[in-house]
Amino acid sequence: MKKIILEVEGLSRYFRVGGLRAKGFLHAADDVSFTVKQGEIVALVGESGSGKSTIARVLAGIYKASKGEIKFEGNSIAKNSDKAVRGRMPMVFQDPFSSINPVFRINHGLERSLKLHRKGLTKLARKALAIELVEKVGLTPGAEVLRRYPHELSGGQRQRLGFAQALASQPSLILADEPVSMLDVSIRIGLLNVMKDLRDHEGVSILYITHDLASARYTADRMIVLYAGQIVEEGLSEDVVASPKHPYTRLLMSTAPDPRLPYVEIDESGDLGEPPRVIDPEPGCRFAPRCSLVMDKCRTSSPVMVQVSPTNRAACFALEKD
Ligand SMILES: Nc1ncnc2c1ncn2[C@@H]1O[C@H](COP(=O)(O)OP(=O)(O)O)[C@@H](O)[C@H]1O
Ligand SMILES: [Mg+2]
Repeated sequence: MKKIILEVEGLSRYFRVGGLRAKGFLHAADDVSFTVKQGEIVALVGESGSGKSTIARVLAGIYKASKGEIKFEGNSIAKNSDKAVRGRMPMVFQDPFSSINPVFRINHGLERSLKLHRKGLTKLARKALAIELVEKVGLTPGAEVLRRYPHELSGGQRQRLGFAQALASQPSLILADEPVSMLDVSIRIGLLNVMKDLRDHEGVSILYITHDLASARYTADRMIVLYAGQIVEEGLSEDVVASPKHPYTRLLMSTAPDPRLPYVEIDESGDLGEPPRVIDPEPGCRFAPRCSLVMDKCRTSSPVMVQVSPTNRAACFALEKD
């Protein structure tokens, strides 16, 4: 059994919304629980607005949790903003052009991170390690790449650099928030393979956040499906794709062009519609208004995650056997 390195229990994040009169709390993430094991890629899959980035930001310490527990490497970190702890769970962002200082050569940022996170290295050792890190993510020859300026790299190369930068702090878990969605389709797969390599050769775990089922299936060992701030289904990626159980996952699958391909061009104008913005919710299933299996009960009480098949867990009354 592999060690659990991240344990999220009942995590919620609310945002106050509205003006003076119509005040309320938007439940961006609501009672979310999951685990990530060592050396495992877990995909957090959901449409735009389903709460993926909110969860990642709470994990990274950018947002505070409104409720819930986060245990990372065995320690409770919900209220901990310790840089050393957070460094072991760095984030790679969606926009490869946002996170790198354009003024300096690439070695500058990377060596700065190494100075911060790997104390006691000589300057020479830092330089050697920087080369090693960029080569690990496929940027070769490392010494030559490090001498370049950020604008001399393509989007895909910059996103690789984002992963090299994340490796500088010797992470046990990388939070990758839509790391390929701004890249050309043709180069996405290279980045997905970088994540697999890091898992297989560095033993790093990755929370891979995406709205693309196909890339989640290709990359991740396990898949967690999010709808309107809540987890609706979870299982091994193969099982969720081959045999989705929750009516929402089924709908997602039916609108994905072919989730068996490593990546697909997502038609964001599709007829799926956005998940609702949930403000001060009453009890009840959030998917009920769109659900083909809806029952009376679904409108008044909230389903919880239960085992619905030997392989999948889901939150759906219609799937519960009584
Ligand atoms: N800082 C914020 N203030 C207010 N609302 C927010 C904030 N961040 C996210 N939200 C809202 O929370 C919901 C989930 O957003 P987000 O986590 O970004 O979803 P995703 O990453 O899945 O697209 C959305 O309705 C979004 O508008
Ligand atoms: Mg997002």
